[in-house]
Amino acid sequence: MSIRCVDLIKTYEGGKAGWPALRGVSFEIKAGEFVAVTGHSGCGKSTLLNIIGLLDEPTAGQYEFNGRNVLSMSDQERSGARLGEIGFVFQAFHLLNRLSALGNVCLPLMYAGADSAEMKERAAALLHKVGLKGKERKTPLELSGGERQRVAIARALANSPKLLLADEPTGNLDSVSSREIVDMLFGLNAEGITVVMVTHDKEISARARRNIRLRDGRLEE
Ligand SMILES: Nc1ncnc2c1ncn2[C@@H]1O[C@H](COP(=O)(O)OP(=O)(O)OP(=O)(O)O)[C@@H](O)[C@H]1O
Ligand SMILES: [Mg+2]
Repeated sequence: MSIRCVDLIKTYEGGKAGWPALRGVSFEIKAGEFVAVTGHSGCGKSTLLNIIGLLDEPTAGQYEFNGRNVLSMSDQERSGARLGEIGFVFQAFHLLNRLSALGNVCLPLMYAGADSAEMKERAAALLHKVGLKGKERKTPLELSGGERQRVAIARALANSPKLLLADEPTGNLDSVSSREIVDMLFGLNAEGITVVMVTHDKEISARARRNIRLRDGRLEE
């Protein structure tokens, strides 16, 4: 796993002219790092994370994901990398409320072509790993915020990604759940997964080995 960005620029269509969300951002992230992305609201953190995660493309600049220029990748290659190599966790969980916890974790496995029995077994094992044994059949609406985020983490881990991206994963959680989720992310990092996490929480960013600080679309590392 490696990430290399050179002079990333992102201008949103319909955004303020002359005020790109990212204005020339360069950095590298190596396998095994735990990076906290910080900065005030609107400075471009989510924009940067979405580009890193191949959910969005830069307007200009270079982005190499595992040594490959993403601009030269086809849509299919990009979605393949998203599915198999990257896990996402969002502030608002983004779970499907009509599916059970198990069903939510099964989804990325299904997209990756796992067979039904294999899929359920792996999804159950992942739910156990995040501390949700016995809650497999609950739907997100029957779970607490902290439990929902655990389901989201299990889902993010489904296809054994090398990179986990988390955009304010504790933004909707109380301090106890927040701590548990952050501990879990550090634990996953200790197992070898590279973690890039957007956070507003100074205590959390202080725990990260490295901070990438954005200010008005520029780096302030
Ligand atoms: N889809 C969009 N279309 C137009 N402008 C956008 C879009 N998404 C973000 N922006 C703008 O780009 C800038 C950076 O937004 P971004 O969401 O990356 O900030 P952020 O650092 O994640 O903020 P927050 O801490 O509030 O989540 C902001 O000025 C925002 O208004
Ligand atoms: Mg954001």
